[in-house]
Amino acid sequence: MENVTLNNGVIMPKLGLGTFKAEDGESCYNATLEALKIGYRLIDTAMGYGNEESIGRAIKDSGVKREEIFITTKLYPKQIGYKSAKINLEQSLERLQTTYVDLYLIHWPSNNYLVNLHTWQAFEELYKEGKVRAIGVSNFQIHHLNNLLSSCIIKPMVNQVELHPYLSQEPLARFLALEDICLESYGPFAKGMVFTDQTLIDMAKKYHKSVSNIVVRWGLERNIIMIPKSVTKERIKSNFEVFDFTLTKEDMKILDELNLGKRLYTDPDNNPFAKEEYEI
Ligand SMILES: NC(=O)c1ccc[n+]([C@@H]2O[C@H](COP(=O)([O-])OP(=O)(O)OC[C@H]3O[C@@H](n4cnc5c(N)ncnc54)[C@H](OP(=O)(O)O)[C@@H]3O)[C@@H](O)[C@H]2O)c1
Repeated sequence: MENVTLNNGVIMPKLGLGTFKAEDGESCYNATLEALKIGYRLIDTAMGYGNEESIGRAIKDSGVKREEIFITTKLYPKQIGYKSAKINLEQSLERLQTTYVDLYLIHWPSNNYLVNLHTWQAFEELYKEGKVRAIGVSNFQIHHLNNLLSSCIIKPMVNQVELHPYLSQEPLARFLALEDICLESYGPFAKGMVFTDQTLIDMAKKYHKSVSNIVVRWGLERNIIMIPKSVTKERIKSNFEVFDFTLTKEDMKILDELNLGKRLYTDPDNNPFAKEEYEI
């Protein structure tokens, strides 16, 4: 397993299991249990995925010590705000059957910077209280971050954004590197587009690996945290088989050149979850 060290010294695995659309109940429970059996130690969930309970149950039943598992969860976008951040974290902890999470993220920014800042102040307090080992954001663009960084006391440790070969997020990656904020990818398989891409298929053949392995390896080599989602036993296993090879510089360049600046998920600057009205 490869890790990154966050700007507060906390160590986070670079590869984890994504769980968006992993249905609460047996599907998500079995996927989490299987992943932990294989060696995954990072599980990415969110209040909005509605599956924290299954994940909590799988972690309890896995026999893996809690402190060996890195759990990320996120504040429900429509609940962004100072008070609700605190209430929502307590509810997530209860569903996850744990006393702390390893990383708590603001799931989506508000277009109202003040809402982001007040929410962040609650995150800073939760961090100081030890209820979260690290705090971060998701779907934040450079302008959201610039604003937050100008007023926060504790810098975010992670920013989780859409990132795949067709949206390589180079400018954001450079910005985050300068600020010592780790970049985490979501949607690495570009809604399935990668699996029919001839460049990726050819490269997978060359390395005797799968397309998914090539995409995940490309991210890891850019020092990006990768969280491919699957509820399929064989895929959970094969997606993890990325620690026995590396990509050459030339092949990294070929993959970098697939970038189209193409967003396939919701645009963070124009998202339906942005809450702008807010009572302190
Ligand atoms: N912060 C945010 O706003 C945000 C937004 C989206 C996602 N995320 C996080 O990022 C994670 C990953 O993103 P995502 O779930 O949207 O997309 P993804 O991981 O790129 O793709 C998941 C899809 O690919 C399939 N798949 C997985 N491995 C495969 C393989 N080896 N071969 C063929 N198909 C494969 C899965 O099918 P099966 O499950 O049926 O096997 C599923 O349909 C999420 O689960 C979530 O934790 C965060």
